[in-house]
Amino acid sequence: MAALPALFGLLMAVVVTGQNLDITPREAVRRVGDDLTVLCKVPYPIDACRMTVGTTSYRLIPNNQEEEIVYAGQGLQHGECGAHIKHIKEEWNGNISCTLPPQTGQIEVIGTMRLLVAKAPANPQLISPPQPAFREGDGFMAQCIVPNGRPAAKITWYLDEVQLLAGIHQPVITSEPGSDLKTISQNVSRTLAPEDNGQKLVCRAEHEALDGPREAARQLVVHYPPKRLESGPITIFGLKLGGEGRLNVTIRANPAPTTEWTVGDLVLIPPRSNEDGSITALEPLHLGGGFYNVTLVLARVAKEDVERTYYLRVTNDLGREEFAVRLSTMDEPAARKSKTSYLIIDVYGVELETGAIVGIVIAVLILLIAIILVVFAKATGRWFFAGRSHRTDIPDGADSEAPLPPHDDVKGSENPSHDHGEYISNGDTKHPEKKPDTAV
Ligand SMILES: *[C@@H]1O[C@H](CO)[C@@H](O)[C@H](O)[C@H]1NC(C)=O
Ligand SMILES: *[C@@H]1O[C@H](CO)[C@@H](O)[C@H](O)[C@H]1NC(C)=O
Ligand SMILES: *[C@@H]1O[C@H](CO)[C@@H](O)[C@H](O)[C@H]1NC(C)=O
Ligand SMILES: *[C@@H]1O[C@H](CO)[C@@H](O)[C@H](O)[C@H]1NC(C)=O
Repeated sequence: MAALPALFGLLMAVVVTGQNLDITPREAVRRVGDDLTVLCKVPYPIDACRMTVGTTSYRLIPNNQEEEIVYAGQGLQHGECGAHIKHIKEEWNGNISCTLPPQTGQIEVIGTMRLLVAKAPANPQLISPPQPAFREGDGFMAQCIVPNGRPAAKITWYLDEVQLLAGIHQPVITSEPGSDLKTISQNVSRTLAPEDNGQKLVCRAEHEALDGPREAARQLVVHYPPKRLESGPITIFGLKLGGEGRLNVTIRANPAPTTEWTVGDLVLIPPRSNEDGSITALEPLHLGGGFYNVTLVLARVAKEDVERTYYLRVTNDLGREEFAVRLSTMDEPAARKSKTSYLIIDVYGVELETGAIVGIVIAVLILLIAIILVVFAKATGRWFFAGRSHRTDIPDGADSEAPLPPHDDVKGSENPSHDHGEYISNGDTKHPEKKPDTAV
């Protein structure tokens, strides 16, 4: 039971220590040689001000501004006890406390703040899988460690010049027992894409004690098989009979692909021409970013050139892709040139773009609503918007259900024709049979 008064005494001491004393800042990070001002305030006049920095206690007198650590504040009569430390020393890392006389009683009032004297960390280390190259879709994980900073360094990640925000894990901060130096480590994970090839993954460390950031980096190499950029057969438009014809196919691959053209019985591996020089296969031209133009040149486009199919095979270590290329002397259709609209429907040769389609759909909807309104009004002898006073003698159920059964029949016959999607049936069941007539 003797513990109780002891505990009470301890509580009192804690309360007195924090009593009405305001210290700012509570924590500061400074480099060696920087200055720092710490201010303690109490809401009553004081007659003394002591500040403990490192192991030394300084008695601060407002008039004396000559020393390394001098009084700061608006005066003791305002309850202010501050210290201006002109040049921070390494050994002052730790607590700074002020000691003020109490308003009443014997126990002095103490306030404590923490000064971190910044210490530069060691260089960042980037730890990543040792293999020189990865494949598209591979999961990639790297870890960056910045050891022994005070406080811990800050890590940011970049892919070339662009800051990475996705796939960044929580940083982990550790320190050796008994040391206030902090080691920070952070992981980044990413699913590799073709765009990552050739990019530099950078771990950047920043710290109060460093004049500039330090970096550790590695280059990413991402391999992938040849890819086509558009699906389906390729048609080269706008060729002129008798003129030179260039068959361009743009593909993407890494590492660089080899190509092979097949024209009838002729197989051409660039750079090569056929015997009379009328067909030349060019080396794939690297456009950057893994994109290549693969080109076959026809010296003079003849009629039979337009009629046949050219086969292109593109191969690298990871796979191959094959293309069928056809020629056309027509101009490229307008719809393929302008990509302003993604939905284009060709109705009897007239192209309707998204806007027009939406307009037509809305117009049809409005028309349908109007028809329904009129039918409803006719059948019931009242208008929707004519108020409820008209709903008097006719029972609701008998009234509104009467016209419905024929409607349902119409719907039933409408459904199969919906599959054709080309016209709106008005219940004419002959419509689906009509279609073959108009198509032939
Ligand atoms: C510094 O002050 C904090 C409380 O403010 C205390 O917990 C810590 O022990 C002190 N450190 C030293 C070295 O006196
Ligand atoms: C970070 O990566 C290292 C090595 O790959 C691993 O040991 C560690 O557990 C990872 N830490 C986190 C937080 O993911
Ligand atoms: C590459 O081919 C595309 C057509 O596939 C063409 O538009 C482009 O001009 C070509 N670029 C070069 C540099 O040959
Ligand atoms: C094919 O590429 C060449 C440049 O190599 C370019 O001059 C030509 O316009 C391209 N042809 C087509 C049809 O894209």
